[in-house]
Amino acid sequence: MRTQVAIIGAGPAGLLLSRLLERRGIDAVVLESRDRAYCERRQRAGMLEQGTVDVLRACGAADRLDREGLTHHGLELRFGGRGHRIALSELTGGKAVTIYAQTEIVKDLIALAPEGRIRFGAEVVEVDPVTPRVTYRENGRLHTLDCDLIAGCDGFHGVSRAAVRGSTVFEREYPYAWLGVLADVPPSTEELIYCHHERGFALHSLRSPQVSRLYLQVDPTDQPSDWPDERIWAELRTRFATTDGWTLKDGPIREKAVTPMRSFVTEPMRHERLFLAGDAAHIVPPTGAKGLNLAVSDVTALAGAIADGGLDGYSQSRLRQVWRAEHFSYWMTTLLHTDPAADAFARRLQLSHLEYVVSSAAASTTLAENYVGFAYDGR
Ligand code: FAD
Ligand code: DHB
Repeated sequence: MRTQVAIIGAGPAGLLLSRLLERRGIDAVVLESRDRAYCERRQRAGMLEQGTVDVLRACGAADRLDREGLTHHGLELRFGGRGHRIALSELTGGKAVTIYAQTEIVKDLIALAPEGRIRFGAEVVEVDPVTPRVTYRENGRLHTLDCDLIAGCDGFHGVSRAAVRGSTVFEREYPYAWLGVLADVPPSTEELIYCHHERGFALHSLRSPQVSRLYLQVDPTDQPSDWPDERIWAELRTRFATTDGWTLKDGPIREKAVTPMRSFVTEPMRHERLFLAGDAAHIVPPTGAKGLNLAVSDVTALAGAIADGGLDGYSQSRLRQVWRAEHFSYWMTTLLHTDPAADAFARRLQLSHLEYVVSSAAASTTLAENYVGFAYDGR
């Protein structure tokens, strides 16, 4: 088989790249190891930057997002039993963020794809960036796909990254993980709450007026089975407690998963005719909500470079924005989590930093402008 662009992975990066190329009349095939139902079910991110929404809208993939997405103009930082609003839009000249689940973006993009363009159950086993060619297994048999270039959009556990010869890896692990839950209960807040507590970080997000999305900092060795529903709600109530009597509504929990936290960048994001995009090239801890947004800006740049011939600048220009997001995600993570190894001095510094962020216009603006995201050229 032959195509112009072989895309490995039907996560948000691969699916959106396919859509952007289709709109420019460029032929592509998406090879995805899992089945469609699995890809559509995988619970992950939910916060979209304005730039991400703009890209989805411009390629005709935002009809449902425009109907169901929730626009947010601020967020709350909560610590010491008190909430402090960060007025995102006021601090950034009117920018806003949108809550719309990654699972829904994936469903929308799959539904728009022409018949046969995405091959589910096709696991790539070999990537040859020079020829270029990928070998994949489908229904137990090996096949090859020849192409002009390969887009490695196969996430952190994929095969593409290893095919980038001579790359340098930058990595940091954190001594905590997130337990993420989806609960059938109306959110107890209109805006997201990022909460620091001595027992650990907690995040109150949402999916719809009926569904809450909540996260708890847990030990990286914890399993979802260590966290029965009653324990989750009790811990969330303790961490979110305020001095003014705010209450957390609870309800049935539908999903539970533990995600390790890491920072990871591989440089360069290109080798010969192979180009990496999304989690295949970089991972951020989720506190800054940047993972999905970076994947979208990578493939937006890649689609433009494929169409306009700017491929030589791809890796270098992407890495500028990637490192900005890496720094912000690290900054938000260390600002809000409780490091089990921190001494009393480090804890006092952390509280002072939190107080500075919510009381200084300059510091609040730093958080806000990074959170809503920068334009794709790095400005
Ligand atoms: P992925 O979504 O990982 O997609 C890669 C695809 O490639 C997958 O479908 C995979 O099955 C496929 N694949 C892998 N290997 C092969 C192969 N050999 N052949 C064919 N196909 C292959 N970000 C946030 O902002 N907030 C969050 O709360 C958040 N939570 C997360 C929770 C988890 C468990 C994970 C893993 C990530 C989370 N992220 C979060 C990050 C965000 O979801 C990712 O940044 C985003 O999914 C990146 O998209 P992607 O398309 O690059 O990779
Ligand atoms: C969500 C996830 C995040 O990591 C974040 O920072 C904000 C929101 C979410 O899943 O809704």
